[in-house]
Amino acid sequence: MNIVYDEEYKSFHLYNEKISYVMKIEKNCYLSHCYFGKRIRRWNEAAKMYYYDRGFCANPDETDRTFSLDTMPGEYPDFGQGDFRSPAMELEFQDGDRNTRFHYAGYQISAGKLSPEKLPHVYVESDKEAMTLEIWMKDEVRGLRLSLYYTIYEDAVLTRFVSIKNESEDIVKIHRLLSMSLDLGEQDYDILTLGGAHTEEKNVYRRHLLGDSIVVESSRGTSSPQATPFLGIMRKETTEEQGEVFGANLIYSGNFWGCVQCGQYGTTRVQLGINPFQFCWNLKPGEQFDTPETVLVYSTEGLGGMSAIFHRLYRKRVCRGKFREKERPVLLNSWEGMYFAISEEKMLELADTAVEAGIELLVMDDGWFRGRNSDTTSLGDWIEDQEKFPEGLQKLAEKVREKGVEFGIWFEPEMVSPESELYKKHPDWVIRSKRYRPIRSRNQLVLDLANPEVREYLIEALSKILKNGNITYVKWDMNRHLTDLGSAFLNRENQGELSHRYVLGLYSILEYLTEMFPDVLFESCSSGGGRFDAGMLYYMPQTWTSDNTDAVCRLKIQHGTSMLFPTVSMGAHVSAVPNHQVGRTTSLETRYIVAAAGNLGYELDLQKLSQDEMELIKKQIAQYKRIRRTVQFGAYYRLADPFSENQSAWNFVSEDGKQIVFSHVQILARSAYRIPTLRLRGLDPKAEYKNVETGEVFGGDELMYAGITIPRVRQDFSATMIIFEKM
Ligand code: DGJ
Repeated sequence: MNIVYDEEYKSFHLYNEKISYVMKIEKNCYLSHCYFGKRIRRWNEAAKMYYYDRGFCANPDETDRTFSLDTMPGEYPDFGQGDFRSPAMELEFQDGDRNTRFHYAGYQISAGKLSPEKLPHVYVESDKEAMTLEIWMKDEVRGLRLSLYYTIYEDAVLTRFVSIKNESEDIVKIHRLLSMSLDLGEQDYDILTLGGAHTEEKNVYRRHLLGDSIVVESSRGTSSPQATPFLGIMRKETTEEQGEVFGANLIYSGNFWGCVQCGQYGTTRVQLGINPFQFCWNLKPGEQFDTPETVLVYSTEGLGGMSAIFHRLYRKRVCRGKFREKERPVLLNSWEGMYFAISEEKMLELADTAVEAGIELLVMDDGWFRGRNSDTTSLGDWIEDQEKFPEGLQKLAEKVREKGVEFGIWFEPEMVSPESELYKKHPDWVIRSKRYRPIRSRNQLVLDLANPEVREYLIEALSKILKNGNITYVKWDMNRHLTDLGSAFLNRENQGELSHRYVLGLYSILEYLTEMFPDVLFESCSSGGGRFDAGMLYYMPQTWTSDNTDAVCRLKIQHGTSMLFPTVSMGAHVSAVPNHQVGRTTSLETRYIVAAAGNLGYELDLQKLSQDEMELIKKQIAQYKRIRRTVQFGAYYRLADPFSENQSAWNFVSEDGKQIVFSHVQILARSAYRIPTLRLRGLDPKAEYKNVETGEVFGGDELMYAGITIPRVRQDFSATMIIFEKM
């Protein structure tokens, strides 16, 4: 990869073997966007911008009526100088003025990566992995300096973030400071977004741009199950396997805002960053504010190509710690099997069945702490319930481990129940308005993580339980969104900082705990995939994908999640039937095949199963262990789309190419059955592959080009898994 500045065209060209990103300085002071896409050798302005004297255009250069910021493709547009499209920033000064004029002031190119402070980001392990361009813009009148950071990697990836420094004597209020803005010269795009709801996360929405704007956002305090800080921009013809697409994803877990806005002359503006709604940050003299980082990924190999790049990057350069490379344990979680009715005796019984089945980790979910028999009490009091665990938590963990399984527990650290010792002692530790009774959600309130005392309390409470070393897994849950924004800790003028300070507070706790307990596997959860984002992935290498464990619903949820996130980060469990969320009954085989597309777990009372079912589960787990490395670290290909078809299918190819795992699920049975042909992907066309169960041998070319057919099964929700070995 390389970054060059061309004196003749005053252009910056960031490129590697796959992509090019070009900007230039116009009129010695404005930064315009020229190109982002497939690699070009150099930028000689074949696709230069032509300016005309157009109606209603403001002219910042009084001697040139053709030039206007409203028609210039900008790199980081402000407001008030005639660009009436969506601005990337909005500041307010003490005299009430909100105008700014940032002009180009210089640049620096360096090896390696510069990253936003105290925020999760893509990292490098050596300076050889990336190059960074920093462009300075200055507002001399206001004494402000803006740094735009661009890092390019070997893969088709570019990251961006922005930093602002107050070099004046006055406080500046930041109302909006987005992480990226990008103006494309065309408009004929399809836009992809990932939205949904609790138990229906990451639906895939695709639509054509029609001259207006598309906005994605969350103002819930978390990235949320309702929206994803992601925008996919692609050609109409782009499919799963072919065509141009680029994706922008914000590495952030709080309120975000993103938009695709059509300009009046056929251009498209793409933006992503912290949600400006209710955001107001006071930047004191000498202080600096860094935005979260955005990842831009480009592919000409369709959505599958885009996802593969995200997967590689997130798995290797966002996930950290020893679990990054480690196979994840098959777990048994107590929640859907027992809910709050857990006890030492029951956990030990579960441990016995877990061992018998080949399970490696027993997770004690909600209900283990003092007085927690329903969701109405006790959050915040992180001490075991003496009645349920007379010998204490550590003893239980010890006993479980002696049986031969690891032991993990559930926490919801960011919350407090009004009925708890913690709330009695510290009613001022919750997020609330001084004027109103705080609104409850799931009977609980949110702790004010902007307050350092709260953070210290949580670190201490969790450390106390983890320091013994017997607990090797933590499920970190978060089950409500932020209302009544108000902090007793922050001053009046800092109240608009609360949502972002909450996220920064959370990140600092996670940084501390994950560093302090490197041997603990942390799994993120927010009522399932409510905070399944790249920010959390930086601290916790896996996430509970959804509270919806129905195998059929999961087809869509996992398909949508896989647009960005690698399968190794997705928790997927086999649960009881009829399913607790939708009442559907699917076979144990189908539930397993769907869950085996991620981090396999079981979440049901194994003791209620028949001997035959137990035997089947044992076989499933043994099989999963044989394909685990492929599923968790191999390449993943989506072969059918459950959003538009009556089926879903995918295949994995192991890192060394030797093992192929193919799965297919037929959703509803049809009498006039259409025999599906699925074309596998990622195989070697010249190699031979053996079906390990039947011994049949097929050429890689046949499996990829002619495909395989699935025979008719007269039953809804039937599933097939075939494992091939390269010969
Ligand atoms: C929501 C989670 O998503 C569930 O898996 C479970 O942990 C419950 N919370 C417990 O309250």
